[in-house]
Amino acid sequence: MLILGIETSCDETAAAVVADGRRILSNVVASQVDLHAQYGGVFPELASRAHIEAIVPVIWEAMAQAGATWDDLTAIAVTVGPGLVGSLLVGVNVAKGLALGRGLPLVPVNHLEAHLYANWLESDSEGAAPSDLSFPLLVLIVSGGHTELVLMRGHGDYLYLGGTLDDAAGEAFDKVGRLLGLPYPGGPSIEQAARSGDPARFRLPRAWLEGTYDFSFSGLKTAVARLIQPQEIPPRFIPDLAAAFQEAVVDVLVTKTVAAAQDYGATAILLSGGVSANQALRAAMRARAGVPVYYPPPVLCTDNAAMVAACGYFRYRSGARAGWDLDVEPDLRLV
Ligand code: KG4
Ligand code: ZN
Repeated sequence: MLILGIETSCDETAAAVVADGRRILSNVVASQVDLHAQYGGVFPELASRAHIEAIVPVIWEAMAQAGATWDDLTAIAVTVGPGLVGSLLVGVNVAKGLALGRGLPLVPVNHLEAHLYANWLESDSEGAAPSDLSFPLLVLIVSGGHTELVLMRGHGDYLYLGGTLDDAAGEAFDKVGRLLGLPYPGGPSIEQAARSGDPARFRLPRAWLEGTYDFSFSGLKTAVARLIQPQEIPPRFIPDLAAAFQEAVVDVLVTKTVAAAQDYGATAILLSGGVSANQALRAAMRARAGVPVYYPPPVLCTDNAAMVAACGYFRYRSGARAGWDLDVEPDLRLV
């Protein structure tokens, strides 16, 4: 069963063809990172325009690389939310047009659910999940827009355990990256800078929010700002600050995720979303989990359409179909 996935929720225009929810036949991503770097963050109006320019060539390229014809497809899956309204509209309308024109079923996909289905995609990379995962699974979704702990009891069956009360983990990486004068996006830049840093030189606070599975990262960003602003921190201390910040974020994410996995008897922990590309997070989670920890290869952690097609496969099998009145849902939640 071949599914064409389409993803335009933020600043990546992506299309992919996936067989049986697992095997990637093509995975094309046109990144707008260079376009937004000059603003230090995603500029929504520019993002929608760039999606309009890129979407058709990206889909055509995904079909060509997969060697697939329109008749080979079983369905088209598209991200309907959460995300930027103007960006989402581009993908949803192109998907509708193609589905109508080719007589294909249209499957709506939640971007957060798609991130976790990146773990179902076949890969021989280190940390890749086996095909016979058993439920319940503890899922940590950590991206630029979200930080959520979810218990997955079956396909499409989720229990929300907690999430961030303010900044998402990736957002904190991006904001602190900007404070430290590192290139956008902050996540990979901070990880890179932290490699040569001493995390013990600066002690940064951790918001534990005891008794909950919730997170708060805005205080951490303020603490970094306070250290920097009174007297400019000499550039040689930037790696130390990056390392201290990364360690504080990782410490809280790992402690809460491991506690939730134990409390709910999860068979394994799945990491997903852009921040799960972080090697320090992966290593600390593995060291402290007590159950297997799985994560997608870095290219499938950040926004892509293979994960949308994988999720679309399971949604299609459970009967999900969109009508021509399908609309975007910028504030869509997983649960
Ligand atoms: O999942 P994603 O591509 O887009 C959203 O749906 O938000 O995540 C992007 C976020 C950005 O905030 C970026 O800084 C962060 O993921 N990120 C990382 C790393 N790679 C990407 N954060 C920490 N370490 C990384 N290696
Ligand atoms: Zn995402």
